[in-house]
Amino acid sequence: MPPASVQVWARRALIVTGIGGGAAIVALSWPRQDRTPLVGRTPGSNPLAYINLGASITYYHFGYQFRRFVDAETGHRWAVRAAAWPESVRLALGLVLPDLRYDNLRCAPFEQLQQQQEEQARTGARTATIGTTSSPSPPLKSLRFAHPLGLAAGFDKHAEAINGLLDMGFASVEIGSVTPLPQDGNPRPRVFRLEEDRAIINRYGFNSDGADRVAQRLQERAAEQLLASPPHTGIVGVNLGKNKETVDAAADYQIGVDKLARFADYLVVNVSSPNTPGLRALQQKSELRDLLFRVKERRDHLFRRLAQPAPPLLVKIAPDLSESDKQDIADVVLELRLDGLVISNTTVARPPQLRSPNQLQSGGLSGAPLKHVSTDLVRDMYRRTKGQVVIIGVGGVESGVDAYAKIKAGASLVQVYSTFALNGPYQLHSIKRDLSTLIKQDGFNSVQEAVGIDVRREQQHATAAPIVLQARTAV
Ligand SMILES: Cc1cc2nc3c(=O)[nH]c(=O)nc-3n(C[C@H](O)[C@H](O)[C@H](O)COP(=O)(O)O)c2cc1C
Repeated sequence: MPPASVQVWARRALIVTGIGGGAAIVALSWPRQDRTPLVGRTPGSNPLAYINLGASITYYHFGYQFRRFVDAETGHRWAVRAAAWPESVRLALGLVLPDLRYDNLRCAPFEQLQQQQEEQARTGARTATIGTTSSPSPPLKSLRFAHPLGLAAGFDKHAEAINGLLDMGFASVEIGSVTPLPQDGNPRPRVFRLEEDRAIINRYGFNSDGADRVAQRLQERAAEQLLASPPHTGIVGVNLGKNKETVDAAADYQIGVDKLARFADYLVVNVSSPNTPGLRALQQKSELRDLLFRVKERRDHLFRRLAQPAPPLLVKIAPDLSESDKQDIADVVLELRLDGLVISNTTVARPPQLRSPNQLQSGGLSGAPLKHVSTDLVRDMYRRTKGQVVIIGVGGVESGVDAYAKIKAGASLVQVYSTFALNGPYQLHSIKRDLSTLIKQDGFNSVQEAVGIDVRREQQHATAAPIVLQARTAV
């Protein structure tokens, strides 16, 4: 008889193989319609891709058992490392998922914004103050998203695993927040799962490898992309932060633009993390105006000099804002002609329904409890910005219904973090599938037609002087 320990491991291996095999059978019997294997890279059917889908389903159902033994930050580190392995290893381990493509999910919101702005400039219909910056902004990069679902900032903070994350089924990955100089962030432990609440609390405090190291990784990736056949078509956003000790915040964000903007498909100024002292005060009107003016000037100057289209510039805001803060942000964004808003970051509030003992931890709360708060803020800011900027909706998205709610409230793109961190990549598939179905069911031909529909319908029905929102046409 083999020793007891060998018997235990043999039994475990049998269980794992059984679960994996079962999941593979489920995956292989999935409806074949609309299915292209392996991120559209390999034509024809590739059974490995479906076995990989099986592995992600297995993690979705049994991941909780695994997570009990690994603290949240270690789990995060391992996930990023695994996503950074070479493609062949990721394939063998089930980390490259079949890419389900849906025609009605393709979108290009910044292209439409650009057309809208050009049209307004021609007709003089722009409601915002014109000529705030010294010279006209360069044209925006033309960005086409395979679907609206992206990975929010904070998962791949240091740009280590972009391709691996895109291969899991995201159309875009927002890296960062990146600070100009490397910094450690807050002491550990600083990330906590609230399993019972489908939520996370973090107080990372902008741990960052710094802009130079991140720029080097992005440059290496760009060089690889030139040789890759075919290259990854996913979109890469760069989220900029500031160092804890910096007094002149705008100078830090300008350094971020100088070092990272040329590698970015879009840029986000993060003024809403609750874990850097004083950061959220930058959302107040005069500070925000000065900060965004200087960052936009720097971006425009750089891309005029490079004679290249510029990455759209967005600002990421907190969910914990007063009415006057919200109006101030909307005014500044319109006045400076910023390209968009990311709504929202984590909240410092602790809703009464929380059940997990970890609710007592300090930091920003994300996941399910943030869902309606962030959707309501998307709707509110869509109204206040009159549909004239691109909104990326983020906070508590766990299903196609949640993503669709954010789109109908005014988001052109949607991001996830907590549900992906807790459940792995499988849910991305159901979110995309259900979103595509919901859009079709409501009689829309594309995501774009549904953007802000709740608000636009509300305005149509209102009797008193309606605000004219820009209904963007389909791509
Ligand atoms: C562990 C963790 C780290 C995060 N780090 C950042 C960050 O560095 N920069 C940022 O803009 N947002 C960060 N976020 C916020 C997310 O990007 C997102 O806005 C928020 O989690 C809400 O989305 P969710 O409910 O899908 O998680 C972080 C969130 C979590 C959970």
